[in-house]
Amino acid sequence: MERQEQRTGNEWRVHRAAEPEFLKRRIDWYYRERVEKTWSGGHIMRGRTPGDDAVVLMSNDYLSIAGHEAILEAQAATVRREGNGLLMSGVFLHGDNPQLALERRLAAWLGSGATVLCQSGWCANTGLIQVIADESVPVYVDMFAHMSLHEGIASSGATPYPFRHNDVECLERMIRRHGPGVVLIDSVYSTDGSIAPIEEIVRVGNEHGCVLVVDESHSLGTHGETGEGLVPALGLTDRVHFRTASLAKAFAGRAGLITCTERFADYFRSTSRPAIFSSTLLPHEVAGFEATLRVIRSEGWRRVRLRRNTAYLRGQLGLLGYNVHEGEAQIIALEAGTEPNTIVLRDALEARGVFGSVFCAPATPAKRSLIRLSVNAGLSMRQLERVVAVCAAIRDEVGMAEWPSTRRLSRCFDRRRRAG
Ligand SMILES: Cc1ncc(COP(=O)(O)O)c(C=O)c1O
Repeated sequence: MERQEQRTGNEWRVHRAAEPEFLKRRIDWYYRERVEKTWSGGHIMRGRTPGDDAVVLMSNDYLSIAGHEAILEAQAATVRREGNGLLMSGVFLHGDNPQLALERRLAAWLGSGATVLCQSGWCANTGLIQVIADESVPVYVDMFAHMSLHEGIASSGATPYPFRHNDVECLERMIRRHGPGVVLIDSVYSTDGSIAPIEEIVRVGNEHGCVLVVDESHSLGTHGETGEGLVPALGLTDRVHFRTASLAKAFAGRAGLITCTERFADYFRSTSRPAIFSSTLLPHEVAGFEATLRVIRSEGWRRVRLRRNTAYLRGQLGLLGYNVHEGEAQIIALEAGTEPNTIVLRDALEARGVFGSVFCAPATPAKRSLIRLSVNAGLSMRQLERVVAVCAAIRDEVGMAEWPSTRRLSRCFDRRRRAG
C-alpha cells in the first residue's frame, strides 16, 4: 500500500495508494473501538520497558536455556560452516539430511513412529488439521484451545463443535449427537496454565472412534521424566493419534512438530499446505535443536527448579487471594477481567518492576483479559519473593477483590463449604 523511494540525500517521498471504503472501515473500527474507547488512546500491550533489575515473566523459555552455551555453540558453528543452507520447502528433503535425522531422534524420544518438523507450532496445527479433516468431519475443540487449532479447522472446511473448557461430559454429549470426528485439546492451556483431563478425554475419544490431537506446546520439555510431555508421562502414547508442539516454548527456538506414524509423515509432507508452500528450517536451527534436545533430556534439574518455582509462586499468590486455582502448570494468570482493569494491573506491576504478558481478545474471551506470568527455571527465590511482595502491595490499587475471577473463586469456595 505504501511505497517509499529515496530521492536525494536523506529525503524520502511516501506514495500511498487510496484505501477503498471496505478496508478503511475495518481500520477505523480498530482505532475507534479498541485504541480510543477501550485503551483510552494507549495500547494494552505497550506499557513500560523493563529496566535491568526488572523481573520479566514474559518469556516461554521455561527451562531458561535460550542462552545455553552448548546450544549457541552448535548454532554458531553451523551458521559459520553452512550459512543459511538451501532455502527451500521441506518437501524436497530426503536421504541423510540432518533435519530428517533430528526428526528420527525426536520420534525415538517421544515414543512415536515418526515426527515431522514444521516452521512453527502454528504451521504444525493448521497443516495437520487441513489433512485430517474436511467438510464431512465434525471437529470437537476445547473452547480454550490455541487459536492455531481453531484456524486449522477453518482452513480444513470442517464444522467446529467447541466444547466447554475441560468438560468431558460436554464433549461426550456432542460426540454422541454429531458422530465420530477429530478431538482437539491442549495438554496445558496457554492462557491460565490449566491442565486438560487428558486420560478422560482420551477414553471418551477412543470409545467413540475419534482421532485425538493433543497440543503439547506447554508441556514438551517441562513435563515427563526427560521432558517428553504429558501424553507419554501418562502412558497414553499408543492411544493419541497426533501430538503437536511449538518449539518456541521450552525448546527456546522457532519451529513446531507433529508426532505421527511413518506412513502419515510422508502423506503430511506431501499434502499439508504449510509443509509444501513455505520454506523449511535453516541448518543452524536444526543444529540448535539437536543440542537443545540433549540439554532438555539430560538437565533434569531445570524441570525440578521450574516445578519448585511454580509451586512457590502459585501457592503464595493463592494465599494473597488471587484466583490461581484454575491452573496448575508454569503459566499463572492474574485475570483482571475487563481490558481497562488489565491496563491498571499492568501499570501497577510494571511500575514496581514486574513484567508479565497481557492477554486479551482474541486470545481470551472478551471479559476475561489477564496478565500472564510465565515462570521459568532461572528465577531466583529473591526474584520470586519480589513478585509476591508486589502482588501483595497492589491488591487494593488494582481492585482485586472486585475482579470477576476473584468472585468466581469465592463462589467456588462457598459451594465447597456448603457441600461439606
Ligand atoms: C498451545 C500453543 N500451540 C501453538 C502455538 C503456536 O506456536 P508458534 O509460536 O511456534 O507458532 C502456541 C504459541 O502461542 C501455543 O501456545
